[in-house]
Amino acid sequence: SGPEMAALVAGGTVDVPDFPKPGIVFKDLMPFFGDGPTFRKVIDGIVAHWGAGSFDVVAGVEARGFVMAAAIAYATGTGVVPVRKAGKLPRPAFSASYGLEYGEATLEVSEGAFVPGQRVLVVDDVLATGGTAGATMDLVERAGGVVAGFTVLMELGFLDGRERLSPRKVHALLTV
Ligand code: PRP
Repeated sequence: SGPEMAALVAGGTVDVPDFPKPGIVFKDLMPFFGDGPTFRKVIDGIVAHWGAGSFDVVAGVEARGFVMAAAIAYATGTGVVPVRKAGKLPRPAFSASYGLEYGEATLEVSEGAFVPGQRVLVVDDVLATGGTAGATMDLVERAGGVVAGFTVLMELGFLDGRERLSPRKVHALLTV
């Protein structure tokens, strides 16, 4: 259920003050990833929300999005496309720069990563300002995919990322 999922995510999260910069409270979800039964329940909850069959491939945002994307893809018999930080992909790639809650970043997706029209579920651990998600969804579309939606474990509601991503479908298991 929704409240059960929210409690699982909240219970597996550690707030780290002043990381990576003074004044930022970092949401460390690694304890959550390390707990097998919780990880499985939450991945199953994400798949149940979107429905197996509602997407053809999963795009995971480096780095924690990779972990979730692989699990969702395995659970649904789909594949994973990595959305990488600049300079990591070996072949020609689309590139998008964006402002982060703390600083600037560039993400890349390989040209030809998607079959044209393929429905793509985009996944990350946290939605904050929405800069990462917005850039990622633009990249998916430039690479020929159709965004089925964006899914995260946790949303920082006070940063209004969801509004920024409208009208795309966004789902968070926990909103804080
Ligand atoms: C974090 C998080 C999201 C992004 C969300 O990534 O994993 O990708 O910030 O912020 P936004 O909505 O304001 O864009 P981080 O930059 O810490 O990278 P990492 O996953 O490689 O540690």
